[in-house]
Amino acid sequence: MSDDTAAVAAAIKRAERVAIFTGAGISAESGLPTYRGVGGLYNDMTVDEGLPIEEVLSGGMFARSPEITWKYIAEIERACRGAAANDAHRAILALEAVAEVWVITQNVDGFHRDAGSANVIELHGNLADLACTQCDANFTVRDYAELSIPPICDRCAGMMRPSVVLFGEMLPDAAVTEYDRIFRAGFDLIFAIGTTAGFPYIYEPIAQASRQGVTTVEINPDETPLSNVVTHRFTSGAGVALKSILDAM
Ligand code: APR
Repeated sequence: MSDDTAAVAAAIKRAERVAIFTGAGISAESGLPTYRGVGGLYNDMTVDEGLPIEEVLSGGMFARSPEITWKYIAEIERACRGAAANDAHRAILALEAVAEVWVITQNVDGFHRDAGSANVIELHGNLADLACTQCDANFTVRDYAELSIPPICDRCAGMMRPSVVLFGEMLPDAAVTEYDRIFRAGFDLIFAIGTTAGFPYIYEPIAQASRQGVTTVEINPDETPLSNVVTHRFTSGAGVALKSILDAM
């Protein structure tokens, strides 16, 4: 057992409140592509319109040409279809037996909900939740196989959209309110699992906690801006790292 594994296992047993930030990497072991890095969706997604992916997946593009944005949202959903939560999601659920655990995820695949985690903040929304842009019609789908793309509201013929946050859009108010509330209460231990930590609302709370002496842990095979900031770093995949930590508890 590595010193890091033993130290993190001990930190979990001492902790009352644990925050776990997750990104696309935790769903990689479910067979989902990540956005960046090797095989990343953004690298491999041939954007026919000759625009950067951040443009076609932006709020501005959705307002102007929703059918273009929907084409790439549907491509991301198709990559998720048939996949399911994996051992890493279930390991996070298991931690709820010893501490109050909050999952703050950037993922839109819903796998933390599916795994049964009690406290999940989906900062970037969820592909399954659709709402009309014109009226208050809304519904949840299992997948987009039954949808015509782009989906039109059958109540008012308005354009439907998923609750996912597009580039240039604000994070959902409810998610931000809950995020602010739980961080005001503070945490004894913070994990960053499978994320490039590119957004300030991911990087900052972890870097600040580290500076304040809170134990912070990164689980990611690649280096990120957090790698030199955290207390403990695991370069194995999420499932392997979390299993070794749970086994050491
Ligand atoms: N275990 C742990 N981490 C992994 C694994 C694994 N098995 N496989 C890959 N990773 C890591 C990669 O090294 C990378 O650092 O997961 C990270 C995935 O990074 P991104 O693809 O950038 O995903 P994420 O950090 O979630 O992106 C954040 O950007 O485009 C937006 O809305 C999109 O939610 C997304 C956000």
